[in-house]
Amino acid sequence: MNSKLVVSDHPLVQEKLAVLRDRGTRPEEFRRTMGEVSTLMGAEVLRGLKTRKVEVRTPLGCAAAQVSAQPVAFVAVLRAGLGMLPGLQHLLPKAPIGHIGLYRNEETLNPVRYYVRLPKNIAECFVVLCDPMLATGGSAAEALHILKLEGVKNIALLGLIAARAGVGRVQREHPDVPIFLAGVDAALNRSGFIVPGLGDAGDRLFAT
Ligand code: PRP
Repeated sequence: MNSKLVVSDHPLVQEKLAVLRDRGTRPEEFRRTMGEVSTLMGAEVLRGLKTRKVEVRTPLGCAAAQVSAQPVAFVAVLRAGLGMLPGLQHLLPKAPIGHIGLYRNEETLNPVRYYVRLPKNIAECFVVLCDPMLATGGSAAEALHILKLEGVKNIALLGLIAARAGVGRVQREHPDVPIFLAGVDAALNRSGFIVPGLGDAGDRLFAT
C-alpha cells in the first residue's frame, strides 16, 4: 500500500506557495516565506507526536496538560532543505539537526551523496526529513534510505512542491513514510524540473 500523502489546503500555506512560485520573488522574501510555510506545515507534521500527561500550576490552581514525549530531529537535504530549518526551529528550538548532502547528476538525474552528518540519537527520534522539492523523487528516496540504515523507524517527509511522478516513487520505495506537501504538479521536464513548479529552490534561496 502507498504511504499517506497530505497536501495542505490551509489558505496561508497556499498563499505562501504562490509567493514562492512567483518568479518576481527576490531571495530575501523567498527565504522568509519558505521559513513561514515550513512553520505552518511543520505543526501539521508534528500533530501525531506522542505526548505525556503533566500537571501545571496556573496562577489560580492546577491544570492537566500535555507535553511531547518523543525526541524530534529535523534533517535537511542540502542545499534547499536548509531553507526550511529556521521555520521548523521556531516550533522546536532544541531539536537536533542533521544534514544529508545530495546533488543530482545533471545527465542521469540520479542523486549523488557528498555529505552525511546526523545527530547521535537519531534512531530514537521522530525524524522530519526536509526537502522542498520532489522532482523524480530520487533524492528524497535516497535520503530516506540513509536514515533507515541508521536505524530510524519513525520518519515523515516534509516538502513543499512535487511532481506527481516523484510522489509515486517515494510512496513505492517507502510506503511507511507519510509525505506532507503544499502542492503537486503534473509535469517534469527533460532537465528534471517540476513544471510549473517554482524553479530551483536552492538557487532562489541562495541567489546562485
Ligand atoms: C534539488 C532539490 C531536491 C532535488 C529534487 O536539489 O532541492 O533535493 O533536486 O530532485 P529529485 O527528486 O529528482 O531527486 P539539487 O540536486 O538541485 O541540489 P541543491 O539543492 O544543492 O541545489
